[in-house]
Amino acid sequence: MTPPPGSLLTAENLRKAYGPTTALDGAEFSIHPGEVVAVMGPSGSGKSTLLHCLAGIVTPDSGSITYDGRELSAMSDAQRSALRRSEFGFVFQFGQLVPELTCVENVALPLRLNGTSRKEAERAALSWMARLEVDDLAKKRPGEVSGGQGQRVAVARSLVSGPRVLFADEPTGALDSLNGERVMELFTEAARSANAAVVLVTHEARVAAYSDREIVVRDGRSRDMERLV
Ligand SMILES: Nc1ncnc2c1ncn2[C@@H]1O[C@H](COP(=O)(O)OP(=O)(O)OP(=O)(O)O)[C@@H](O)[C@H]1O
Ligand SMILES: [Mg+2]
Repeated sequence: MTPPPGSLLTAENLRKAYGPTTALDGAEFSIHPGEVVAVMGPSGSGKSTLLHCLAGIVTPDSGSITYDGRELSAMSDAQRSALRRSEFGFVFQFGQLVPELTCVENVALPLRLNGTSRKEAERAALSWMARLEVDDLAKKRPGEVSGGQGQRVAVARSLVSGPRVLFADEPTGALDSLNGERVMELFTEAARSANAAVVLVTHEARVAAYSDREIVVRDGRSRDMERLV
């Protein structure tokens, strides 16, 4: 199969086993620039494994992943880490903010790691925090903010370095539905304004409702819902 035209990130026939467990069994995926794709499916179906392969964190046993015309498996580990730092952003179920840093320092961190000055990094961080409506929490530490606020800080951090793809694994999984919806609203709005593609893993239909397209994973195989109808 050739990648769909205009696709930014494409996976074909991915297989991954952990010992006797088959996590991916011929999974496929594609996403366009600026598109929000929800990856759905029951627990243990292979959603996180698919996301980790697409992000170059886990190496599949076989199959191909192409990002912007480049084959991930043909890159060195150093090239893949550089790609993750410069082109990808990440949001996980529990924000994974650094507890010792303030919120604004957390958001500024990806830019600081890329060599941006503190002043410039924090200015950019604050402007993303304002978009996510958490700029008033800049000086607080993660332990002093609510779950929903922490996730919005994590979303700001994922966007600060201008990624082309955002990987989000159950970004609202630890939140109640009201907070979850607000986070998804601001998250998808911010990602769309930055023209970032979003790979959104979730098992909740109300979260997937914020996507443009749904892919369902079952027993390590993925199906594009649009191609079923
Ligand atoms: N590091 C690992 N070592 C061993 N087995 C693993 C590992 N990661 C995943 N698996 C197994 O691979 C399968 C797919 O796991 P994965 O985490 O991708 O599922 P998931 O769809 O994300 O589930 P959930 O909704 O519960 O997060 C499961 O059977 C899981 O136990
Ligand atoms: Mg998972």
